[in-house]
Amino acid sequence: MSNDRGNFGSKIGVILASAGSAVGLGNIWRFPTETGNNGGAAFILIYFACVLLLGFPILIAEFSIGRHSRSNTAGAYRKLSPGTRWKWVGRLGVAAGTFILCYYAVVAGWTLEYICQAATNSFAGTSPQGFIAAFSEFTANPWRPLVWLFAFMLTTHLVVVKGVEKGIERSAKVMMPALFILLIILAVCSVLLPDAEKGLLFLLKPDFSKVTGNVILSAMGQAFFSLSLGMGCLCTYASYFRAETNLSRTAINVAIIDTMVAILAGFIIFPAAFSVGIQPDAGPSLIFITLPNVFQQAFGGMPFLSTVLSVMFYILLALAALTSAISLLEVTTAYLSEEFSMSRKTAARMATAFCTFFGIICSLSLGIGKDITLFGMTVFDVFDYVTGKIMLPLGGMLISIFAGWILDKQILWKEVSNNGTLKVHTYKLVLFLLRFVVPVSIGLVFINELGLFK
Ligand code: TRP
Repeated sequence: MSNDRGNFGSKIGVILASAGSAVGLGNIWRFPTETGNNGGAAFILIYFACVLLLGFPILIAEFSIGRHSRSNTAGAYRKLSPGTRWKWVGRLGVAAGTFILCYYAVVAGWTLEYICQAATNSFAGTSPQGFIAAFSEFTANPWRPLVWLFAFMLTTHLVVVKGVEKGIERSAKVMMPALFILLIILAVCSVLLPDAEKGLLFLLKPDFSKVTGNVILSAMGQAFFSLSLGMGCLCTYASYFRAETNLSRTAINVAIIDTMVAILAGFIIFPAAFSVGIQPDAGPSLIFITLPNVFQQAFGGMPFLSTVLSVMFYILLALAALTSAISLLEVTTAYLSEEFSMSRKTAARMATAFCTFFGIICSLSLGIGKDITLFGMTVFDVFDYVTGKIMLPLGGMLISIFAGWILDKQILWKEVSNNGTLKVHTYKLVLFLLRFVVPVSIGLVFINELGLFK
């Protein structure tokens, strides 16, 4: 199908762009944070189950809806189910994506600060306690994180304005393999640190007595967040896929790459955290205080290598965050420009301005505004909680109901099998998961959270 909306150029480009969206701070920053807060190995097992049983079918549903409609996510539901309220699923997604970007960009900004710190060698000779102090001092500073937030949002904006193929695809092609190699090196270093076994036990030995409804909700939310699911992000990307793209294979690849990166991040963070005596439930600061320790301890004797590796790591982390942020901004941009007939430039400007404004609020809420709390959480945490634990799972549930029950079965089959040209063994299973397993399990978790089982 040729249109002036742009298309991804190659097969590998499709996988890289989708994986580029999926792999980001969610894997390397949020996954260890959630794993640490939720007790370790048991959480990870539940997370795997969520990726397999909920993530994979929803990936296929979003891909099919997006490619069939060739439209932004709200437009997609309008086209596929005209005159119904289903377009609100798309709108809910646009809202979720916009809110996620607000605080995502803040953390992405931190990675830029750490590139500079690594480059100027300020990790050298710092103690574990020193890294903790340095991080809280940095985030409490009223203006430094904001400068990085602006820099990050501006870059994201510029890539999105340049359009789909040139911007998104090219940036993903180089950075993904490089990031992967560096993660493996760091995981090996971390596992070899003294006392790293405690971290390995934390990652590998499940303690199911700690599993509560909230742990399950967190695992579910993390699976959605990490796979970029539940808000029409991959649906928007799929609207730029070519007709030949094999949706099931792309979905499997994305899920595998994304999960491997998260696991690697776990193997870097926890052995190192236990080794230097940092609590695994240190929260959002976890990777920013453990990682400098890994560089310092593993390569402290080789200052040059330590500097090169740490600079490279934070650059790649920032790039991974960039490809994810692009996909978030693209959802809002495509929505505004197609639904309100604006130019892409104007649409992107509005979205960027909105996210930057609320990004500032999220950032300040960790420093001068940390006493302003809602339900005991800072504004930053409220954005994370509401999007990750409410909007994404709710979006995922609605998408599965739409794809499983409302959407014409012919459409789903045609998309999954590329008009009958592919043999797809998983089709029946995916349909079953979409119809029953996904909506029922998300529904049960929500009901449990509301306390209705008691
Ligand atoms: N998945 C990305 C990460 O792991 C973040 C992200 C990009 C995202 N697009 C999304 C999260 C859409 C939820 C929904 O960093």
